Amino acid sequence: MDVSEYQATGAVRSRQETERLQKEFEQQRALEEERARQAEAEAARQLAEEAARRAARPWPVRLTEARCTLCHSATNYETSSHTLPGWIAVILRMRYFNMAPLEWEETWIIGRHLSKARPPDASTALFEWGATGTLIAAPFLLYYWATRRHRRFRKKEP
Ligand code: HEC
Repeated sequence: MDVSEYQATGAVRSRQETERLQKEFEQQRALEEERARQAEAEAARQLAEEAARRAARPWPVRLTEARCTLCHSATNYETSSHTLPGWIAVILRMRYFNMAPLEWEETWIIGRHLSKARPPDASTALFEWGATGTLIAAPFLLYYWATRRHRRFRKKEP
């Protein structure tokens, strides 16, 4: 055993070998940077595409999303279905009970859009239209009933 056993031999690289490795390393790094740049560009492109797709949706869809996702997610209205008067009633409730900021024509546009996009089944439709009809007819019926009684009462007088 002599001192030569403690001296590094194979591990020491020649100058050329070191330079070659360095070059290889730099190439690899450049390649990785290029890949990262490409991935970034691709992500940006997809984002822009998605934004363009969302912006190209019809106006009522965008208006509904803008006005009706302030307080809760879209799931609330995407999982409900109503007739036109039913949706108007929901929107008016949002407006007057929950203080949703809405204009009159927006109530109308959103109501029409939702009643087309989320219509109810037949029995719900029947009930909602029936309730609407009753509500509209109620004052006339009351008026008729009141005046009829009054007339009958007057006729009985001598
Ligand atoms: C100012 C906040 C606010 C805004 C804006 C708002 N909502 Fe709501 N919404 C609520 C709250 C609070 C509830 C839960 C309590 C309730 O039902 O009133 C709710 C519940 C709902 C529900 C579930 C209850 C039900 O009746 O089926 C639906 C559907 C709904 N909202 C639709 C809408 C639509 C459509 C719009 C857009 C016109 C809208 N919301 C905008 C606050 C809001």
